[in-house]
Amino acid sequence: MSAQSVFGTAALPALPSWAEPPADRPAAIRQIKAALRARIAASGRTVDEVFAVVERQVKAEVEDIAAARERGEEIWPVIEYADLAAGTVSPAALALLRRRGCLVVRGHFPREQALGWDRDIVDYVDGNRFFENYRGPGDDFFGSVGSKPEIYPIYWSPAQMQARQSDRMARVQAFLNSQWKYESEGVRWFDPERDSLYPDRIRRRPEGADSAGLGTHLDPGTLDLWMTAAYQKAFRHLFDGTVEQYDPWDAAHRTDGPQYPGTTMCSAFRTFQGWTALSDMDHDQGVLHTVPIAGAMAYLMLRPLLADVPDDDMCGVAVNQVFPAGEKWHSLLLSALSGIPDVRAGDSVWWHCDMIHSVAPVQSQRGWGNVMYIPAAPWCPRNERYAADVREAFGTGSSPSDFPAEHYERTWTNRFQPADLNETGRRGLGLD
Ligand SMILES: [Fe+2]
Repeated sequence: MSAQSVFGTAALPALPSWAEPPADRPAAIRQIKAALRARIAASGRTVDEVFAVVERQVKAEVEDIAAARERGEEIWPVIEYADLAAGTVSPAALALLRRRGCLVVRGHFPREQALGWDRDIVDYVDGNRFFENYRGPGDDFFGSVGSKPEIYPIYWSPAQMQARQSDRMARVQAFLNSQWKYESEGVRWFDPERDSLYPDRIRRRPEGADSAGLGTHLDPGTLDLWMTAAYQKAFRHLFDGTVEQYDPWDAAHRTDGPQYPGTTMCSAFRTFQGWTALSDMDHDQGVLHTVPIAGAMAYLMLRPLLADVPDDDMCGVAVNQVFPAGEKWHSLLLSALSGIPDVRAGDSVWWHCDMIHSVAPVQSQRGWGNVMYIPAAPWCPRNERYAADVREAFGTGSSPSDFPAEHYERTWTNRFQPADLNETGRRGLGLD
């Protein structure tokens, strides 16, 4: 690290910030880009120099992934639940998890239990005449009555809640949370041992399905990543010339700030996004892919500052749409896109919250593709705030406020009941 970056930080020019999405977006983008460039320049380095450091790091990872693929190795780290529970995960496996930023947990749940949950969900939705009453995606399209969805806007089935409050889920979430640095600057940013029980949906994609998949994108935010004071602090090392110190596992300032509203937003801070498989899925059947480079966010955040990007453009990032990753600006990263290995019902799949991911297309799918979305969302100020909304939704069987207001389960009397909460469930909802 250079002397300037040690001693220059205090004197760097401040950044403008917007607590709400800016009304004049192109003007705000021009303003923040100029301010970021000026701040980096004041540290004694140019944007090009700083970006070159990141590009070298990313390139080394891309080459490592290509070489591993060449050798026929699995790109995604895989850890057995039994090793994780016994605390016997090898240092090499831990290092690979932190390098790649994603993970398959094998045997997270017994296969029979996961298949049983899948059947229970079918009984739950069938018994409550979900398909007869289905109004189409979100609240926008009432024309598709009767068509079966793949994403079920169902949140409160006994199966989902049993998985969320299970000891096995708590154990894996605590393991994943503890990969992060959650204490610094005299602050404990989150509690790694307590999850906030973020309710999400399920996907059941039937045998024979054709699916266009989902393009490469990321979910942690949009323009707020550059424009809010909290995120500017979280990504401080990218913006003050100390890019070598950027740590994708540092939770500092990530667990408090607001996020710009939008249909794609997630109110919670998630250390990892994740899902649990409720069917066996082969690696070539339209499965999840990621760019398995934990530090790639530095590239994504700094790329818009290079001279070839128009001054009012953040490489296509806009408010109220997911953050796109594409060939135009991110082709180096996308060359590392890697799919999960074959998974079996009861395995779970996890990826760092800043990670580029996609779902591959599939034609005439072999077998089912069924998952329960359950992330790791540790207890922190941001998640505690959202837990109030979750408690309300749980009590009334409503769709949680991060999701479209569909509320199918309000009248379903066999949804999971408060009396069925265990200690983990109660703590996750903030009831204890
Ligand atoms: Fe996503």
